[in-house]
Amino acid sequence: MKVLVVGGGGREHTLVWKISQSPLVKKLFCAPGNAGIAKQAKCLDIEASDIDKLVKFAEKEKIDLTVVGPEAPLVDGIVDRLAERGLKVFGPNSDAALLEGSKGFAKKLMARFNIPTGTFQIFSDADEAIEFIRDMGAPIVVKADGLASGKGVTVAFDEETAMAAVKKCICQGAFGRAGHRVVLEEYLEGEEVSVLAFTDGKNVLPMPASQDHKAIYDGDKGPNTGGMGAYSPAPVLSDDFLKQIEKTILKPTIDGLRKEDCEYRGVLYCGLMMTESGPKVLEYNVRFGDPETQVVIPRLKSDIVPILLACADGELGKTKAEWTDEAAVCVVLASKGYPGNYEKGKPIEGLDKASKIPGALIFHAGTATKNKKIVTNGGRVIGATALAEDIPAAIKRAYECVEAIHFENKYCRTDIGKKALARLGNKR
Ligand code: AMP
Ligand code: GLY
Repeated sequence: MKVLVVGGGGREHTLVWKISQSPLVKKLFCAPGNAGIAKQAKCLDIEASDIDKLVKFAEKEKIDLTVVGPEAPLVDGIVDRLAERGLKVFGPNSDAALLEGSKGFAKKLMARFNIPTGTFQIFSDADEAIEFIRDMGAPIVVKADGLASGKGVTVAFDEETAMAAVKKCICQGAFGRAGHRVVLEEYLEGEEVSVLAFTDGKNVLPMPASQDHKAIYDGDKGPNTGGMGAYSPAPVLSDDFLKQIEKTILKPTIDGLRKEDCEYRGVLYCGLMMTESGPKVLEYNVRFGDPETQVVIPRLKSDIVPILLACADGELGKTKAEWTDEAAVCVVLASKGYPGNYEKGKPIEGLDKASKIPGALIFHAGTATKNKKIVTNGGRVIGATALAEDIPAAIKRAYECVEAIHFENKYCRTDIGKKALARLGNKR
């Protein structure tokens, strides 16, 4: 069969790497891809946001399955457009993608179906929001309702910061339409964990949990990024908790949507806070996480393609997934300056050396080929990933990969996986 992957980051490289191993796949395309993806798929000069061109390509090439990486084309209706033409696609339609496209929609759904989450109120009037902040006090969390490339959330520890965030969204239009409404949310304390699940709209197949590192600096300091590293499994989440999350969060979300005539197919990502009163939803994403995918998918022993097809066909009920007990750790190598301004076009050395380290998987994110050399082409450049028998060994290997790869202005966190080590230490 012919498969098209939409996107060009570390998540998509991981998906392409895994899909390319399936004996079912004869031809693999990626739009737009990156320098690493180009080794396993034919990269197309089409942006992930260009739905018209993507649909035209899928129709002309008779693509048997399209797998969509990023959220924006999902929210903008790529799945609806492909389905209209009878083309099979892995991902939710635009109605279901509102779970990520509107935080207000997601919170109201959780409220209707008693899915555990922080208390909240939705505002489109700045004065009313500010009055609410005065009543509630800090800490409080301010969220732009729509998609804001991960920049729309302010965790405010004083009222002034919360009020400024409201004004930035509603009055100053910092996020355009996405910020015209804000969700004010109860501040939740605990450790964060990401749980992703395959779903066909009726059945859910949870993947092993992982933990992201969103802040740019060690010790979770500094501004949030797309994610600076991840590990899986996440010792904070026992098997019992995962079962509880399936029963109280994943299944009720999918069932709730279906009851409201919205069948969610694809991958559902729950960002959770493990609070003293149990796991609570911080956010839903309607796609694979990045860099969570880099540590979860390498642990999947089964062929991923039949699972993706079963989700798209509404037949996940009979599908099983086998996972390795090995642990995976991904350290993101970024361009210095990210998530702010950074330079591109720096030659990258040592990729071959890194990939020879046992268990190493070098996933490309922001890379391109220029004059036959691989160069940096984004904020997050490489996901230096390693599989090993346990988390401590995987951390060691991932950082050996980090040491082997060089480019000007290379930056990474040095503490990826430390929280897991602390938990494992506590247990011993
Ligand atoms: P979100 O995009 O909603 O996941 O928010 C980005 C980050 O903000 C999360 O990964 C959390 O670290 C933090 N955050 C979001 N909501 C809350 C909350 N209610 N309480 C505490 N932290 C939060
Ligand atoms: N790593 C967080 C995300 O994919 O949204």
